[in-house]
Amino acid sequence: MAADRTRILSGIQPTADSFHLGNYLGAVRQWVPLQDGHDTFYCVVDLHAITMGHEPDVLRARTRTAAAQLLAAGLDPARCSLFVQSHVPQHAELAWVLSCITGFGEASRMTQFKDKAAKQANPSVGLFTYPILQAADILLYQASAVPVGEDQRQHLELTRDLAQRFNARFGETFVVPEPYIVKETAKIVDLADPVAKMSKSADSQAGVVDILEDPASIRKKIKRAVTDTGTEIRFDPENKPGVSNLLTIAATLSGRSVAELEAAYDGKGYGALKTEVAEIVVEATAPLRERTQEWLDNPDRLDKVLAAGSARAREVAGRTLADVYDAVGFLLPRP
Ligand code: TYM
Repeated sequence: MAADRTRILSGIQPTADSFHLGNYLGAVRQWVPLQDGHDTFYCVVDLHAITMGHEPDVLRARTRTAAAQLLAAGLDPARCSLFVQSHVPQHAELAWVLSCITGFGEASRMTQFKDKAAKQANPSVGLFTYPILQAADILLYQASAVPVGEDQRQHLELTRDLAQRFNARFGETFVVPEPYIVKETAKIVDLADPVAKMSKSADSQAGVVDILEDPASIRKKIKRAVTDTGTEIRFDPENKPGVSNLLTIAATLSGRSVAELEAAYDGKGYGALKTEVAEIVVEATAPLRERTQEWLDNPDRLDKVLAAGSARAREVAGRTLADVYDAVGFLLPRP
């Protein structure tokens, strides 16, 4: 991979048995075309996945399933570095250094922390420092762009602030990254509660469609999707968030434009639209389910892909961390 190609990094947590449509449309689908013309690093962020309490065996299985889904979605080990965060020790090491230049008040303002902490009896310090670890993920690779959904914008802002602060204090060390957020799919909303984003931690999964979900269940959830008052099929996220969400999902997965779908369903009613959207989702996710299972049936092959990805990641991360340690004034050990 040529060193002069722009670096891209993104990550996803192995905190569920499947990615949902929000993860897939908002992030993972954007990762695939970026493999062309960029030096791409994609990471299953298992260190982040232990910030809210977890079961060790479940985490291990979900880490493999996450990697399998990424490969099924089109990540190509020949064109990207796909790895598991805990295989690259530099993430935790850089996170420590960055935590020492992060203000306590600054970290306290992170809205995801506030939301997640409010749902926990005794939130961990790890949950509090989660965004600093995310900054380390990005800065280690000198990534110039980070493809994510809208909910990650504030974490990206913090990452930029920390990079600029470090560079100003200790000398140019980090590339300052830009968020890469595709407007149309930046916030896929919950089918049962179309003002909330689709989320794996939602209280009810009735409005969360997983890409590995069986077709009957996908159809049922989409047919029960909350639509809006009136009957008109029109893209208007403010006044018709439910219908607009269905149009976005259908347009992105079918390759048709929202305008085309609006025209096709003009006067046909919400029922017809939902039936069509359900079929589009079932059809688009079928190959993902099949290919994910193929990778899971071959764990040796999967682990080899991850080993190669992490070797490449350690190489790049190791160089950045060495520069950081030198810049902050750590005494280098004798070889
Ligand atoms: P995570 O695992 O929650 O989600 C993975 C990606 O999916 C996007 N996403 C959505 N996009 C549109 N609509 C939705 N309803 C929706 N729900 C989730 C997220 O924005 C994300 O891009 N903190 C990150 C993981 C992370 C990371 C990183 C990301 C750790 N280190 C470094 C980028 C770079 C997270 O919780 O993602």
